[in-house]
Amino acid sequence: MKQFSMAGAAVAFLTLTLPAFPQGGFVPGQKRPPGDPVQIARGKTIYGIGCTACHGADLRGGDIGGPNLLRSQAALSDKNGEMIAPIIHGSRQSTGMPKIDMSQDDALAVSAYVRSVLETIGGQGRPPATGKVPEKIVVGDAVAGQAYFSAKCASCHSVTADLKGIAARYEDPRALQNAWVAGGSRRRGPQAASKARTVTATVTLATDEKLEGRVVRIDDFLISLRLEDDSIRTFTRFGDKPKVDLRDPMQTHRDLLDTYTDKDIHDVTAYMVTVK
Ligand code: HEC
Ligand code: HEC
Repeated sequence: MKQFSMAGAAVAFLTLTLPAFPQGGFVPGQKRPPGDPVQIARGKTIYGIGCTACHGADLRGGDIGGPNLLRSQAALSDKNGEMIAPIIHGSRQSTGMPKIDMSQDDALAVSAYVRSVLETIGGQGRPPATGKVPEKIVVGDAVAGQAYFSAKCASCHSVTADLKGIAARYEDPRALQNAWVAGGSRRRGPQAASKARTVTATVTLATDEKLEGRVVRIDDFLISLRLEDDSIRTFTRFGDKPKVDLRDPMQTHRDLLDTYTDKDIHDVTAYMVTVK
């Protein structure tokens, strides 16, 4: 990973990692990517947050080891998320692509975004613009970031306890930014799954029996729990039967994603950079 010299940096500098393809690569007369622009825009944001670090802002591979998606057979043959969404949801864990917790809707939006980039460039393995997208260097306001942190983050975190030294753990401010935005899911390699982020659930059966465990899988039709004795129990779901109470420690992080402005992101990163 790139080293980033902090020497002489006044307060902050920061890179926003959302990919910024010039005008979305649309040039009059050029083939426009089909698809729902709203969904694609949403997918682009999610990509920027969840995929950039590994696959690069331009999809050609990133700092921490994801392959070039412009040459990905799976991405190239994807029609409607059927290739990409399962990969996001964990089908390639054994080869290093982490399972990423996101709804099927979000996975389809990211897939639509990836396809839109591939379609724009005709799948020739070239990035949509003339070269690497230059990094945007933005100056955040660390003081505003600290205020934001106190208001929105301090209920769960402290810079003198769990986040102590966070800037030393992520020396590259881009990685630091990705880490706090995503809640650190990438910090210890693909299989990192800290206890603190484990999704658990209580299933209450018709008999009033309650079963509690780690959620192994959940969709509209099934929920599988790993119980304390390590056995796995799967329940069929019909609407709200059986009753399922989910506890996802990262839910707040995902909810916060929708609320950040670019300025919030820059400011908080500027503040995080000072937490040595
Ligand atoms: C921690 C790094 C990491 C993150 C984050 C990550 N990936 Fe990956 N991804 C990988 C690695 C490593 C592979 C290669 C797996 C393989 O060879 O099977 C991969 C493979 C893929 C592939 C298949 C490429 C092929 O071989 O055809 C797709 C598609 C993909 N990732 C999409 C995504 C999307 C979309 C996101 C964001 C939602 C994402 N990835 C986030 C590391 C990552
Ligand atoms: C409702 C509680 C909650 C809130 C609010 C919250 N987080 Fe988190 N955050 C978590 C949990 C849980 C984790 C996962 C911790 C782990 O894996 O050990 C996490 C992880 C992180 C990490 C990665 C930590 C590491 O060790 O790599 C950072 C950085 C972070 N959050 C920053 C923030 C910032 C900045 C905010 C406010 C904008 C925020 N969080 C808001 C619960 C929260």
